[in-house]
Amino acid sequence: MSKPIIILGIESSCDDTAAAIIKEGKLLANVIANQDVHRQYGGVVPELASRAHQQNIIPVVDSAIKKAGVKKEDILAIAFTRGPGLMGSLLVGTSFAKSFAMGLNIPLIEVNHMQGHILAHFIKEESKAANQIIKVESPTFPFLCLTVSGGHTQIVLVKDYFEMTVLGETIDDAAGEAFDKAAKIMNLPYPGGPLIDKYAKEGNPKRFKFTKPQIDALNFSFSGLKTGFMNFINSETAKNSDFVKENLADICASIQQTIIDILMSKLKTAALETDINHIAIAGGVSANSQLRATLYQMESELGWKVFIPDFSYCTDNAAMIAITGYYKYMKNDFTTQATKPLARYAL
Ligand code: KG4
Ligand code: ZN
Repeated sequence: MSKPIIILGIESSCDDTAAAIIKEGKLLANVIANQDVHRQYGGVVPELASRAHQQNIIPVVDSAIKKAGVKKEDILAIAFTRGPGLMGSLLVGTSFAKSFAMGLNIPLIEVNHMQGHILAHFIKEESKAANQIIKVESPTFPFLCLTVSGGHTQIVLVKDYFEMTVLGETIDDAAGEAFDKAAKIMNLPYPGGPLIDKYAKEGNPKRFKFTKPQIDALNFSFSGLKTGFMNFINSETAKNSDFVKENLADICASIQQTIIDILMSKLKTAALETDINHIAIAGGVSANSQLRATLYQMESELGWKVFIPDFSYCTDNAAMIAITGYYKYMKNDFTTQATKPLARYAL
């Protein structure tokens, strides 16, 4: 009998050190170590990120293997994030993956982080107690995926697991960056996206209006919004130094609504132009509750079928790297010890 396909996934592209084990497409363990060290600096400090990865990588992998209840000798291949991301961070995961693969004499699989975010839709979980697979509905091909993270904002046409075309993307800041920069302007800690989401729940999204960019085709721009928002906060704070404190919920709801409107307007155009109504979302910003609610609203309004991953698979994680590794393993798509990380890595 052939051995079950067990893949170890490693993710270290930014500020999360993560490891996951997938057996025959089903997730057995998903471990993540966040790095709090960046909070005090208001953003990720690359040098500190790579040092923290160096400290975390072995305990995180060890814990994933233990949680999965497998032996390291059972692992058939190691999938790692080759890029895009911070070079110093990628180097830690890549070097670890190479050494571990060499030690176990098993193949290496390189994964594009953005492809991983999209393929997170195909993660299946196994309920250990009942020994059953929890059925998660995955999108069918072709579908559109809005990939929104701290570093990327793309609308991707997904024709197959590894047949993806970027239809539009940001020409400057990413949507997550827009959230984080707006939060920083209000003196909220990094990462600001989840905090804006939280405060916005009590606020009026129509209270403040911000100018939306006019950008060609299916591309996005968020840097003008950031500048407009900064000017608005500065001028209001000059009149009332407590302006942000007194209006926090309404400001958060209004800036969040503006970012969502920008994303939704292009996504609706893409759906019309491609005549595709299976719409998925991926990346850290897909954890945003208002964006999720707005997308689900489109099911009744526009007849879309919407696919949103579980919260834990929206932000950076290694389960998405392991599942991508699993599909690459199935088509014998391996790399060699000569591979090197890529800070920029097109889909
Ligand atoms: O995918 P991810 O974990 O890392 C990157 O690859 O960038 O995305 C992180 C981004 C950050 O900008 C963070 O503020 C944003 O996702 N984010 C959110 C929420 N949760 C995370 N933005 C808005 N609302 C949220 N609930
Ligand atoms: Zn990411």
